[in-house]
Amino acid sequence: MKVILVVDDDATNLRTLGELLRPEYRVRLASSGEDALRIAGSDPRPDLILLDVMMPVMDGYEVLRRLQADEATRTIPVVFVTALHDEDSEQRGFELGAADFIHKPIRAAVALSRIRAQIDARTARESLRRKAQHMARVAEQGAEQLENTRQQLLQSEKMASIGQLSAGIAHEINNPVGFVASNLAALGRYLDDLFSIIDACAAESGAPAEQRLAEVRGLMQRLEYDYLKEDVLDLLAESKEGVERVRQIVADMKGFSHAGASGWQWADLHGGLDSTLNIARSTFKHHCTLVKRYGELPQIHCIPSQLNQVFMNLVVNAAQAIEGSGEITVTTGRVGDDSVQVSIADTGKGISPEGLRRLFEPFYTTKPVGEGTGLGLTLSREIVQRHRGQIEVNSELGKGTVFTLTLPIDPVLDIDADTEPPAAAV
Ligand SMILES: Nc1ncnc2c1ncn2[C@@H]1O[C@H](COP(=O)(O)OP(=O)(O)O)[C@@H](O)[C@H]1O
Ligand SMILES: [Mg+2]
Repeated sequence: MKVILVVDDDATNLRTLGELLRPEYRVRLASSGEDALRIAGSDPRPDLILLDVMMPVMDGYEVLRRLQADEATRTIPVVFVTALHDEDSEQRGFELGAADFIHKPIRAAVALSRIRAQIDARTARESLRRKAQHMARVAEQGAEQLENTRQQLLQSEKMASIGQLSAGIAHEINNPVGFVASNLAALGRYLDDLFSIIDACAAESGAPAEQRLAEVRGLMQRLEYDYLKEDVLDLLAESKEGVERVRQIVADMKGFSHAGASGWQWADLHGGLDSTLNIARSTFKHHCTLVKRYGELPQIHCIPSQLNQVFMNLVVNAAQAIEGSGEITVTTGRVGDDSVQVSIADTGKGISPEGLRRLFEPFYTTKPVGEGTGLGLTLSREIVQRHRGQIEVNSELGKGTVFTLTLPIDPVLDIDADTEPPAAAV
């Protein structure tokens, strides 16, 4: 049942109104402005207040002003009940925020229908407010979910590019591991031969020395000792180089992912570029020539693993854009006092005007499933923006494409002097 607070300094008026309302509403009564304020702020909260204008000590206008100043009572609609018939006081009441006016003497039907209208309006408003609150919560949750999904997408792009590369990397590692293994087997056989020669030298036999020497020499000849001596050294040298290659690949993979050091730091971009190019080598080594035009680069304040991710995207895109054979050129240099530039150019098929428009859109890809996710450049641009840098593209159909990154040496200097760079989210 809805609650109505009736405020009037005249006991007869209170009684009349109370009797009129009681069949439909729960009625609370106040005989002064002070009482009214106390009751309005306590439970059960009124859904409507019928307020007498002319009261001693505190008149209705003042009560309304105070109700509206209080967070707890501000939304309760107030209907003035007044004997006054002048329009000025109505005007003033409405300006203060009164919901309506009922004039004394009270005519039951008119008063009740006006009261009902106010109560209904309030109920509708409350339900709207609750719905709006609910929608706001839903929207907030939606935004949060969207952000989560976006983070997952970026992460999966990373995984996809690592997945694509892993076959090539496995091959790069398998190759030396394969020949080191076969060299070890050959070395084992050579050792057997060597042991049998040594055993022959040391064998107890009654034969004269010359005869034994001849026997040993015969054995050495049969076992091709001279060739064995040379080949053992070759096999060892080759195996050493194979192991070194594996070590280098592992070091590059570490350099690429920058395992262990993922935050903002001062770093040399050439190191990251070299690691990344080595890791990506399998994507271009068969059909592209790699040209490095490295200039002078100061260390820059960055998140190296993320920039490596950008280099990787650009290099793999360049390699995939080259059909037949072509060239990938990586150029670096300083621009002005506080920026550096890295550009990755290819002599590939170029990008169409539509492609240029949509390049950085999430999921825009012209590649078959498994080869492209369409997130590489989206992610790259995000990382570059996080570094307060720029990524630009120049492309000519059939001729090739150049992606140029411009990065500030210290992004912090570009923001407010003492704010940290934005946190690394990816
Ligand atoms: N160097 C490039 N040459 C030609 N087209 C490119 C090059 N880089 C990117 N593109 C085009 O932009 C699209 C989006 O690239 P990207 O965001 O890295 O996604 P993905 O490589 O997974 O397709 C590619 O599918 C390709 O059509
Ligand atoms: Mg890509």
